[in-house]
Parts: sequence; C-alpha cells; structure tokens
Amino acid sequence: MEKVIVTRKIPQPFIEQLEAFAEVEVWNESYTPMPRDKFLDSLKDATACFITLSEKIDEAVIESAPHLKVIANMAVGFDNIDVPLVHSKGIIATNTPEVLTETTAELGITLLLSVARRIVEAEQYVQRGEWQSWGPYLLAGKDLYNAKVGIFGMGDIGKAFARRLKGFNTNVMYHNRTRYKDAEEKLGALYVSFDTLLENSDFIVCTAPLTEDTRDKFNEAAFKKMKNDAIFINIGRGAVVDEQALVKALQEGEIAACGLDVLRQEPIDMSHPLLSMSNAVIVPHIGSASMITRNRMIQLCVDNIRLVLNDKQPKTPIKAI
Ligand code: GLV
Repeated sequence: MEKVIVTRKIPQPFIEQLEAFAEVEVWNESYTPMPRDKFLDSLKDATACFITLSEKIDEAVIESAPHLKVIANMAVGFDNIDVPLVHSKGIIATNTPEVLTETTAELGITLLLSVARRIVEAEQYVQRGEWQSWGPYLLAGKDLYNAKVGIFGMGDIGKAFARRLKGFNTNVMYHNRTRYKDAEEKLGALYVSFDTLLENSDFIVCTAPLTEDTRDKFNEAAFKKMKNDAIFINIGRGAVVDEQALVKALQEGEIAACGLDVLRQEPIDMSHPLLSMSNAVIVPHIGSASMITRNRMIQLCVDNIRLVLNDKQPKTPIKAI
C-alpha cells in the first residue's frame, strides 16, 4: 500500500485525489510545519511525501524513509532538499516551476513600487493620525518610470519581471550565470557584469535561487558598489543576501531602501534590526501567494506523486545539480 505524508493542511479535494491511490497522513495545520520528530517518524512507512520549503530534506530524513519513492516540494526553489543525496538513493524529487512565475513576478513589482513610493510608511502615517495637510515633499519617493533596473537572476521569474517593466519605460540590465539572447531581444534587457549591474542600477531586483554561486552574493562589497539612492528588492532566497551587510548599508546610506519577501531565517526574529527600519519593507515569503497559483502548485505536487507512484515520469522532476 502506498502512503503519502502531507506536511501542511491542504484542501480536502486534493487529499481525496491522493486517497484514490494511497493512504494519506496529513498534518492539519496551515501555518505551522509538521514537527521534525513527527515528520521523521511518519516517514518510516511512507512511499511519498508532499512537503513545503519549511521541511529540510537531509541525511536524517532519508535514513528515516526506507520506502520513499518521491518527494514533491511545493515550491520552485529546492535549496531545502539535498538533491544529490536524494538522487543517490533513487528517490525522485519534484518542484513547481512555471505555475507560479507570473504571480511571483507580480509580487516583485508590488514590493518594488511599495518601497519606491513608500506605501507602508504612508499607510502607517495615516493610521497614526499624522496627516495634517498636503505637503510638497510629504512621503516623496522615487519613480520607476525612466529608471535603470538591474535584475539578478534571469530565469522564468526574472523574465516575467522584466516583461512587466516595459510599461514603465525603464532601462533593464541583467546578470545571470547563463546569458539569454531571447531575453535580450524580446525584453530589451542588456547583459552586464555583476559589478556593472550594482554600479548603475536605480533598482536592483534579486530573483535568483540559492546555490553555492549565489550564497551571500549581496555582501558588504556589493552594497558599497550600489548607488546611494538605490532600492534593493529580494524575491529569490534570503541567503543570497548577507543581512548584516544590508542593515549596515541602510544605516550608513550606502543604499536607500529595501523590500524583502525572503529572509535568511524564516520567520524573521522579532529582534531583527531590519524590523525597526522605516526604509525596509518585509513581507512573509508570499511571492506565489495567490489563490489560483497556490491551488495550481498543490495540484502539480499531487499529480507528480500520482505519476511516480504509478511508475510514470513526473511532470516536473528536479534534475541533477
Ligand atoms: C518559493 O519561494 C518557491 O520557491 O516557490
């Protein structure tokens, strides 16, 4: 008998789809992950697991799961999974690319404009009852129109982000491990070195996954190279940024402001210095969080599990890295 572990509460119709071919054990909490001990214990007789990026798939997990055939990660990023280890045991891992691309790019634009036009500060200003009258420079921010925008990470999300910038008459530069001629032609994006991106951008948007190449890429030296009025946005992964260096850069005026959807430690510790800075906007990793997209991500995980447990190829396997 197949057995699927689902580490978060998901809607009943998806559970019923899984129950058509397997016994299903669900952790019925939406906002707290299945405790690690419980996860390890449940994996003993599991043949599949449906996980989120809160679950770290490492040696201990693999040792606890002798019958595991497939791990379906409800995320496009998979830095929570030790892929070489999983593959070495013949286990298939899958992720959720494409279905979340447009929604995540939209969050990137939302965050960028919110920081540029100081929307969070403005809303709090009104809430505090400080709005006395119209003022010539009241909460004056920065235009995206005509700006130079540097995108670090030109995968699907980077491209979808660049496409949205067309309406703002921006100059788009990008830096990526691989150069994409299609992005350059269709999106009018200029391929530049990392340093050129840092030195010339009014807005820098990171959409990159976490890899050994991208870890701590935005460090003290990088922030120093940016324009003093630059705005930094991160919708990729938290550990691409050295957060202490970011705090210092904001405090010392090396850059103007930041908007972060992802952090090194999630949830953020409430004593984190970024939380007391009015020029840092932090949201809780909601890049792909629209109802339609989250449903599509769950459906893709369910489909991948069904396919693998029926000895078929999954739709979106994570390839060797
Ligand atoms: C979210 O960050 C994802 O990787 O899907």
